[in-house]
Amino acid sequence: MNAILFATLALLGKEIVLQPADTVDVAATGCTSEAVLYVNGFRSASAQPAADGSVVFPSVRLHRGVTDIRVESGAESDSLSWRYGETESEAPGESPAWRENPRDAWFRDARFGLFIHWGIYSIPAKGEWGFARGVMPPDEYKALVKSFNPTNYNPAVWARLAKAAGMKYVVFTTRHHDGFCMFDSHFTDYKITNTPYGKDVLKMLVDAFRAEGLRIGFYHSLPDWTHDGYVDLETPEGIRTGKCGAYDPKRHAALRELVRNHVNQLTTEYGKVDLMFFDYVSKYKAEEDYFDRAALIGICRRNQPDMLVNDRLSYFKDGDAPDYDYYTPEVAVPNRPPLVRGTLRTWETCATMNDHWGYAKDDHDFKRVETIVAGLVGCVSRGGNLLLNVGPTELGEFPPESIACLRGLADWFAVNGEAVAGCGPSEYTPPFGCAYTQKGDALYLNVLVPPMGDVLLPGLRGKVRSATLLRTGEAVPQTHFWGFETLRPDELRLHPQGLVAGDVVKLELSGR
Ligand code: GLC
Repeated sequence: MNAILFATLALLGKEIVLQPADTVDVAATGCTSEAVLYVNGFRSASAQPAADGSVVFPSVRLHRGVTDIRVESGAESDSLSWRYGETESEAPGESPAWRENPRDAWFRDARFGLFIHWGIYSIPAKGEWGFARGVMPPDEYKALVKSFNPTNYNPAVWARLAKAAGMKYVVFTTRHHDGFCMFDSHFTDYKITNTPYGKDVLKMLVDAFRAEGLRIGFYHSLPDWTHDGYVDLETPEGIRTGKCGAYDPKRHAALRELVRNHVNQLTTEYGKVDLMFFDYVSKYKAEEDYFDRAALIGICRRNQPDMLVNDRLSYFKDGDAPDYDYYTPEVAVPNRPPLVRGTLRTWETCATMNDHWGYAKDDHDFKRVETIVAGLVGCVSRGGNLLLNVGPTELGEFPPESIACLRGLADWFAVNGEAVAGCGPSEYTPPFGCAYTQKGDALYLNVLVPPMGDVLLPGLRGKVRSATLLRTGEAVPQTHFWGFETLRPDELRLHPQGLVAGDVVKLELSGR
């Protein structure tokens, strides 16, 4: 049991919401030796305890970058972290417009993409954070460069699977946080072309996916756990010891230069790149411009003027953050699009198929095809995209469960794809258990939960020319009377038979 407590923060252990500029008083009890106060992992004060074991530290001002404080004394330690309140939300009754951005038209039509997390972490096969979480000693991990040999890699197969599933773009991990480059970097030896495989897998992937007509996106990690200029608690050392090394401006400058060089290489040597997915700024660096946003965005705009750039160069998205092209929530369908400085923003949720991004051989917790279809139409119904992830194996193959899932999606898409591609949200309110997507006068009723009988569509009485179940091509009868009538005057009552989750009823509106 910890002997130390934050006496003045009686909320310890609960989630607390604080506002920037709040101050907290930090006090500890039960200290037997010098007590040290850490703010965001950095030592900020120390004091000897009074005879009763208590220590009172100076107040900590919680500017937004401060996300946790910790006190250590001897072998004891205790800590507290919190989140900040929402920064922007609509006033009641207000309906903000979408921001105009000519760069993103294709992306908002595409709606569905394939994320690929592939790197040297597929060998220990415990996900892409394995290195940080200590799957093997650092030197052994780094030495995997001598054995990575994905002889079964054939990106044409991946591209065909993605295309059939209705995906219109791919986002590939050119480098993840472990620093290993899946392209022929000119700036490090820690790269795919120095493995026994020896080929530039990125180049092969770009060619294969372009050949199938998919657009190309590059994921690129900003953190680099193998670079001594990256000092953070979210690193192998930070996770192991709860501490990180000293900040060194020269090494930090070298890290920034490496990222700039990589971004420059990626945007000049692989033809047209349609989007850049930067990942990420840690909460410990929330208040800083750690990677030099302006320089990186400048390189992107100069080399690829039409390329979309995501939002993860900033931890906070308001205030001084640049106007990113799109926003990237994770593994959830947001209820509303992001609202940034008064306009709704283009967004894409990324999601795992199981519980890991990188290959994890023991993780068989794959989502059902129906679940993913519901997530996809859920995103589109809220004006967003879904980027669905696959983590290939050490040999360069998609896991069998992922292939089965993509094939299931392809079956769904072959019949129902028109409810997704080119569609967006509808102004109509969907009935219980359904989501709407819409393209012009075609309104798609996406069945998430099979109805127990008829389906009542608010606001559509007299407005629907035809209702067709896409799976059978047959008309769904509309009825206007049923005994014990409880219909409201604006409701249309559909009388479908045998609907299943994932079914889509196309409603042709007769003009509004
Ligand atoms: C997070 C994780 C990372 C994953 C990414 C996907 O940033 O650090 O492992 O690549 O999310 O969006």
